[in-house]
Amino acid sequence: MSEILSVSALEILDSRGRPTLLASCRLSNGSTGQASVPSGASTGAAEALELRDGDPNRYAGLGCLKAVANVNETIHPAVNGREFATQADLDKFLIDLDGSPNKSRLGANAILAVSLAFCRAQAAQRRQPLYAHLAQMAGLQPSLPQPMINLFSGGAHAGGQVAIQDLQIVLPGVSSIRRTLEVASDVFRAAAALASDRFGMRLLTADEGGLAPAFKSSEAMLRSAVEAIEAAGYRPGEDVALTVDVAASQFHAAGRYLIDDAALDRSQMVDLLERWARNYPLISIEDGLDEADWTGWQLLYKRLADEVMILGDDLLCTNPARIQRAIATDTANSALLKVNQIGSLTEALEAYKLAKRAGWKIVISARSGETEDDWLADLGAGWAGDYIKVGSITQSERLAKYNRLLFLEQVEALSLAG
Ligand code: PGA
Ligand code: ZN
Repeated sequence: MSEILSVSALEILDSRGRPTLLASCRLSNGSTGQASVPSGASTGAAEALELRDGDPNRYAGLGCLKAVANVNETIHPAVNGREFATQADLDKFLIDLDGSPNKSRLGANAILAVSLAFCRAQAAQRRQPLYAHLAQMAGLQPSLPQPMINLFSGGAHAGGQVAIQDLQIVLPGVSSIRRTLEVASDVFRAAAALASDRFGMRLLTADEGGLAPAFKSSEAMLRSAVEAIEAAGYRPGEDVALTVDVAASQFHAAGRYLIDDAALDRSQMVDLLERWARNYPLISIEDGLDEADWTGWQLLYKRLADEVMILGDDLLCTNPARIQRAIATDTANSALLKVNQIGSLTEALEAYKLAKRAGWKIVISARSGETEDDWLADLGAGWAGDYIKVGSITQSERLAKYNRLLFLEQVEALSLAG
């Protein structure tokens, strides 16, 4: 075991051109680690606080210099010269140093960047690949998660041309990441051709690299996905299934779901989702209801939990207390795991274990604002996520993760679970 010599951070830019943090950690034996943190656009209200400067003269208030200073001037002097045997020891120290319930003093972005950089430094110290270190930390056998690959986008990721946020494809029968990406590429090209024929759209993409034509309705997005799968020569449902991130909190106002020129109450919204699940090859519905509409979620759970993943993102925010409540009240059966929603690896692992013990499926997820860092792929493999959701196959901040999964499969010889 060796002590921390230094932690430091600088402000870098994410895939939307917005500031975020890159942190470095150096241990006394010379091992080092670096990591950068992502950032969401459709964030949940219960997420830990991402500290932004609020200075309108820099990056429209989105600068991260305060968070950077918190790493360099507060966290560094506090950890310098200390030994932390485990990730949990460091994370607990950082959480106590912050002292707030939602990491608002130092910022979840500052804390997570340090947490991840330390994780990489520890992996280096042990001469382990990051995924193997993460697996050991969690007491799990590593395996590759199934990618959920973004095809179409709407909502907050595409200027709101249609209500629902993201539609993904999943390949249930495919046994490798390599083949998954080949098929995804076929379907993506067919979808791009369809977008061009039907909507006169050039290849313009949304935040996560998905296509964002001017669909007339949310359902048109689902229908077009099925058409693209068929046009690419695959069987919808058997070869290529769909998942949808409705991100319903984004269009919920005054108790109504404002979708496709309608203002639905919760039971009408559940009816709509059930109709989609019956008519399209959907295996997962993420955030089908508003993050505060627990009653609506329970209705949806009763209706569809036996058939599809009722997947909580904004509802749960990778927060153990919220996951516990959802388990106890039959509100969801799957959790999206976004480490920056909670702000440390240790708390994310707690959320993961709680959900897994309840028999839930886990989707390890990127954010809509990402960097070229690829730690998420190692996390997905090391913690043996059922699925990994990192966006489309068109932008390098996404491909950094897919390419790392290809490496883990072909060089580290990990296999897809299931
Ligand atoms: P976000 O989107 O990173 O903008 O929150 C991803 C998601 O909602 O799953
Ligand atoms: Zn989501």
